[in-house]
Amino acid sequence: MDESITATCIAPINIAVIKYWGKRDDKLILPVNDSISGTLSTDQLCAKTTISASPTYTETKFWLNGIEGDYKTNLRMKNVIKTMKKLAKKKSPKNKALKWKLHICSVNNFPTAAGLASSAAGYSCLVYTLAQLYGIENEDLTPIARLGSGSACRSLDGGFVHWMKGISPTGEDSVAVQLCDENYWPELRVLIIVVNEAKKSVSSTNGMSLTSTTSELFNYRIMKCVPERIRAMKKAIAERNFKDFGELTMKDSNQFHACCLDAFPPCVYMSDVSHRMAAIVHGYNKNAGETCVAYTFDAGPNVCVYLLEKEVRRFVTMLAAFFPCDAYDEGKFVRGIPIKYLSKISE
Ligand code: DP6
Repeated sequence: MDESITATCIAPINIAVIKYWGKRDDKLILPVNDSISGTLSTDQLCAKTTISASPTYTETKFWLNGIEGDYKTNLRMKNVIKTMKKLAKKKSPKNKALKWKLHICSVNNFPTAAGLASSAAGYSCLVYTLAQLYGIENEDLTPIARLGSGSACRSLDGGFVHWMKGISPTGEDSVAVQLCDENYWPELRVLIIVVNEAKKSVSSTNGMSLTSTTSELFNYRIMKCVPERIRAMKKAIAERNFKDFGELTMKDSNQFHACCLDAFPPCVYMSDVSHRMAAIVHGYNKNAGETCVAYTFDAGPNVCVYLLEKEVRRFVTMLAAFFPCDAYDEGKFVRGIPIKYLSKISE
């Protein structure tokens, strides 16, 4: 009799409006600052993970987008699985599946490691799928997702999510909580505009380590700016005040990239096209006489634009005039970018 068990789940990416950048503990992935993000709908950019456990498997293996990874050297993944098994054992000590090896298959329906939060979707999906596999219910999984990739802890809930840095050296208070669900601000939309699908040259992990050890601006950001921005952002979301929400989002993205440029050697994530996109957004808002569109950039050149539903058509039409959509020549950017994804914030 085949005793193996299987679970499949999907998890979306999230786009931070107050960025997480810098760790106080590299192994436990404890951040130096709070962060807030919006979770995108699962009908757009997401990871899909299938995990099976079987008494016949001789070793744990994983495949990402069809290519086998090296599980033995993947310390983060091993740590996540070990911690999930420990939790499952506490809940049901007799679960024999906990002794079985795993086969893990994950696919992203968007460019992996191009600064589009693929690790956030991937690790939140891994943790959630393991919870289904082992029958773990009613547990806060965010501190475990955090062990895979910090931002992953914010993808376990829809809507807007606040990851609190916590103060404990062991990290049990470094958890993510939902500020409001995906139905709270139904007019809100996110456009993800893929400028470049290539893998980023400096990973988030290395970039944040270099920034926190070499940038003077970074300390100013952490001590003086982020705490106040977190308060202001929570208020803007609670009041559905797009002007404040958008301005804080853009300022925080700009400051995060300024800190990256202040690292030595500098971490350059935004490209010329990214800067042109930011200028276009400012021009659009100036023309409209109010802030109705807001950009934010993660650790890569791709643009995330938060805006209200009523602006989408006008903004996309305007953008297409600057960046025609049929603009690839042998994979290289020539005169435009494709508008690849249009996502609505929801679960
Ligand atoms: C720029 O969560 O990918 O997207 O914890 O080292 O895996 P690790 O980093 P990661 O960093 C994400 C950084 C960011 C900002 C954010 O999402 O808050």
